[in-house]
Amino acid sequence: MNLLQDKVVVITGGAGLLGRKFCAAVSEQGGVAIVADMNATAASETVHVIEATGGRAIPKHLDITSLESITRLIQELHDEHGVIHAVVNNAYPKSRNYGRKFEAVSYEDMCEGLSKHLGGYFQVSQQFAEYFKHRGGGNIVNMGSIYGTIAPRFSVYDETPMTMPVEYALIKAGVAQLTRYVAQYYKGAGIRCNMLSPGGIADGQPESFLERYKNLCAGKGMLDAEDISGALIFLLSDASKHLLGQNLVVDDGFSL
Ligand SMILES: NC(=O)c1ccc[n+]([C@@H]2O[C@H](COP(=O)([O-])OP(=O)(O)OC[C@H]3O[C@@H](n4cnc5c(N)ncnc54)[C@H](O)[C@@H]3O)[C@@H](O)[C@H]2O)c1
Repeated sequence: MNLLQDKVVVITGGAGLLGRKFCAAVSEQGGVAIVADMNATAASETVHVIEATGGRAIPKHLDITSLESITRLIQELHDEHGVIHAVVNNAYPKSRNYGRKFEAVSYEDMCEGLSKHLGGYFQVSQQFAEYFKHRGGGNIVNMGSIYGTIAPRFSVYDETPMTMPVEYALIKAGVAQLTRYVAQYYKGAGIRCNMLSPGGIADGQPESFLERYKNLCAGKGMLDAEDISGALIFLLSDASKHLLGQNLVVDDGFSL
């Protein structure tokens, strides 16, 4: 199927764990995946993999915490393609001390996390929405997380150094409200904004954690990055054209 034929889709953090698979999925649907990432080497590698399978992808440097970097990207893409159809807010900026337990998180850690991640998602939404408004429409998909909507299940992290960082929970709750805000603000301007909230993605986590997590799911437990792509394609395509301000949860039932 070619659900995104010739659509120019920007994926921020497009060279990461989920981003790489999202870019591949966009190109498999006939779209042009813009791999917009701070990591230029990883972005080029992502593009090579996609091109090797006959897909279309372009690497671009992007820092979502820099207004200048975002506006330059929009201008470049407009000059090169004449149009941008969609942006996926998927980058994952982390603060220096990211991953600490609640009692160890400092005020500075909190501010740094919120400003880079939530602030970056805000800035990308604002700049792309204004661009979309002037060209008559566009589509924004924000990456959320189950932990933006439910209380963390800390017991799954027992006997591991892992936790669910408080900054992350607040950031993703903020992204959920940003999604509704933007959808409402631009309602009627041909701009859609929705959120995609995955559960945990398998990435070499300890066996004991995977087992505990799986016990709370329907069958698979932690999902693979590929398992999320179908929901993203749905949100980017006309199949969801009347969906605004919604949160699509893909988590094998973990949060149920
Ligand atoms: N991995 C999971 O288990 C999981 C689960 C639920 C939701 N998510 C969400 O999915 C999204 C992607 O997560 P991931 O696991 O693929 O992350 P990742 O860390 O594997 O990749 C993130 C990418 O973002 C890039 N990046 C970091 N800071 C940036 C910046 N300032 N500007 C531009 N690019 C920047 C990195 O270079 C990297 O390529 C995030 O929003 C994350 O919160 C992930």
